[in-house]
Amino acid sequence: MTVPETTATTTAAAGETPGRTSGEASGAEVLRPHAEDAFAAELKALAAADDRPRPARWRLSPWAVATYLQGGTLPDGTVITPKYVGPRRIVEVAVTTLATDRALLLLGVPGTAKTWVSEHLAAAVSGDSTLLVQGTAGTPEEAVRYGWNYAQLLAHGPSRDALVPSPLMRAMSEGMTARVEELTRIPADVQDSLITILSEKTLPVPELGQEVQAVRGFNLIATANDRDRGVNELSSALRRRFNTVVLPLPATPDAEVDIVSRRVDQIGRSLDLPAAPEGLAEIRRVVTVFRELRDGVTSDGRTKLKSPSGTLSTAEAISVVTNGLALAAHFGDGVLRPGDVAAGILGAVVRDPAADRVVWQEYLETVVRERDGWKDFYRACREVSV
Ligand SMILES: Nc1ncnc2c1ncn2[C@@H]1O[C@H](COP(=O)(O)OP(=O)(O)OP(=O)(O)O)[C@@H](O)[C@H]1O
Ligand SMILES: [Mg+2]
Repeated sequence: MTVPETTATTTAAAGETPGRTSGEASGAEVLRPHAEDAFAAELKALAAADDRPRPARWRLSPWAVATYLQGGTLPDGTVITPKYVGPRRIVEVAVTTLATDRALLLLGVPGTAKTWVSEHLAAAVSGDSTLLVQGTAGTPEEAVRYGWNYAQLLAHGPSRDALVPSPLMRAMSEGMTARVEELTRIPADVQDSLITILSEKTLPVPELGQEVQAVRGFNLIATANDRDRGVNELSSALRRRFNTVVLPLPATPDAEVDIVSRRVDQIGRSLDLPAAPEGLAEIRRVVTVFRELRDGVTSDGRTKLKSPSGTLSTAEAISVVTNGLALAAHFGDGVLRPGDVAAGILGAVVRDPAADRVVWQEYLETVVRERDGWKDFYRACREVSV
């Protein structure tokens, strides 16, 4: 079955997306370019340097996809920036899964880069990360299968022209990578329509007496949140269709500081914020506070702490620091200081006004107050706590 409006993307060379209008034409104006646009140069350089075998319709070999995610230096000197900071094996398993007939499920607590990794994988494998279904409690079956253009349907009856393909259907007919976000939030009966797609690799369209058969290159990346488990548990039939890869929280404080500073730097540049090389100490502090409260113990292992109800993820640390940088840029002297991150930290920690406030006060008085070199930070936190 032919599917309108997307044929241009399939003929594009690596890193180019002429089928889309929002990307390069208005490049500088886009607030958040898709991964394949933001890293078009890296993808192009990788494709040029990549002489390993590529699975059908892949833009890059599995090796090059893994290098795109984890970073490296190509023989011609091109530096590939790391996108995902974490165990290489995880990335290798994820990439390899996409080259098999099993789909990939990225699982983890909030803020462990599931969405981020899924977008970059789709960008590197298919050159297009936009074939996306956002899972919610209200996701209808049409979002997974197909819908109808009702004006056309009423005027001419069911026909190919009246059919509105879902991103998944397009991915199947074009041999691309589709993405489903927050799979476990999708109602069970809608999840079930994925089973035929993943096991039979076909999508029947009974109204037309036809079916769409997935062409080689098609696969699916789904993400699901650990904390949502139980909302709509995955059926075992569906789970069997997936290889599950669990994305862990950063193993060490240094790794987490590295992730936060990299991302803050990227986001800061896109928001025209000044670079803050002196901000590293403050980033380290935010990460320390987050990790200690998350783990329920101080970094020296001596004091047990209560954990607040929020997740205090790496993603939240990134936004606390980014907001702090914006404060420093617009209302301070451009240097990230304790006062710029204190309010953000408080907001991230105190989600439940009663219980979390007690946890925070206790941490503030027993840990922050006593720690060498943390006096300014203690004062800044006291100021915003009242
Ligand atoms: N290990 C990591 N390497 C690189 N970036 C990371 C890592 N962990 C977190 N991040 C950053 O955290 C931010 C949020 O990640 P993302 O939105 O993908 O999380 P998520 O796991 O999908 O969370 P949620 O469950 O809330 O949807 C991204 O900007 C990402 O760059
Ligand atoms: Mg996500």
